[in-house]
Amino acid sequence: MSQQRIALVTGANRGLGFEISRQLGSLGIKVYMGSRDELKGLDAARRIQEEGHDALFIQLDVNDHASIDKAVEHIYDQHKRLDILVNNAGIFLDKTVPGLKVGLDTIRETMETNAYAPLLLSQAVIPIMRISGYGRIVNMSSGLGQLSEMGGGFTAYRISKTALNTITRVLTAETAGTNILINTMDPGWVHTDMGGKEAPRTPEEGAATAVWLATLPDDGPRGKFFRDNRPIPW
Ligand SMILES: NC(=O)c1ccc[n+]([C@@H]2O[C@H](COP(=O)([O-])OP(=O)(O)OC[C@H]3O[C@@H](n4cnc5c(N)ncnc54)[C@H](OP(=O)(O)O)[C@@H]3O)[C@@H](O)[C@H]2O)c1
Repeated sequence: MSQQRIALVTGANRGLGFEISRQLGSLGIKVYMGSRDELKGLDAARRIQEEGHDALFIQLDVNDHASIDKAVEHIYDQHKRLDILVNNAGIFLDKTVPGLKVGLDTIRETMETNAYAPLLLSQAVIPIMRISGYGRIVNMSSGLGQLSEMGGGFTAYRISKTALNTITRVLTAETAGTNILINTMDPGWVHTDMGGKEAPRTPEEGAATAVWLATLPDDGPRGKFFRDNRPIPW
């Protein structure tokens, strides 16, 4: 790598986003750690800086279009590039509500964060990636969004992650022939605030596929759904 790569990770103040940032930093990548809360974001970035990595807090509420534009513009102004986007920020509001009961407000809110925000972020960064001729976008989906494995419950969350997979495919088609590789992934069931204490996987394990997809070689895959670095059915 002749130039230091520049990455933006959303929801980086805790959980998988924090660990993805740590691992990208350990590869020598400059990581902008998006956090909607300034104090939490600054603290998270400080912890990664203390490990000797190049991490910076950037204010980013992914539900706020102006916040997205401001964060992306700031990075572009600093570097004239943005090489890697990890759409990690997510919410899971209907863990215990059945599909027959889930409210439209819950679905709308979940869609805003889990699907519309990654689309808006992609719309903001892809023009920059086109100019530099390089881009990697990782969409943090879930096995709960897999149509081939679809079951009951978790309706809002499932719809949002299936939509995120659709966005991955649509934008992949629209970036055909470029060096912008967009993929989606399932980290498995990971021990974070969202995954809970019973989850069998560590954040390190959950983050590994994201880091692999964020650093794919130019002839790497595009428009695929992965778990543990292997393609899985939609
Ligand atoms: N854990 C699992 O088992 C699992 C499995 C499959 C997929 N995933 C996916 O992996 C991703 C990360 O999950 P996680 O387990 O690390 O969850 P987590 O521990 O709950 O962390 C979620 C992160 O997203 C951020 N976030 C939520 N809404 C935001 C907003 N509007 N703007 C900016 N940041 C926002 C949170 O920030 P605050 O601290 O400000 O709330 C937090 O940093 C999610 O997309 C999730 O759906 C997780």
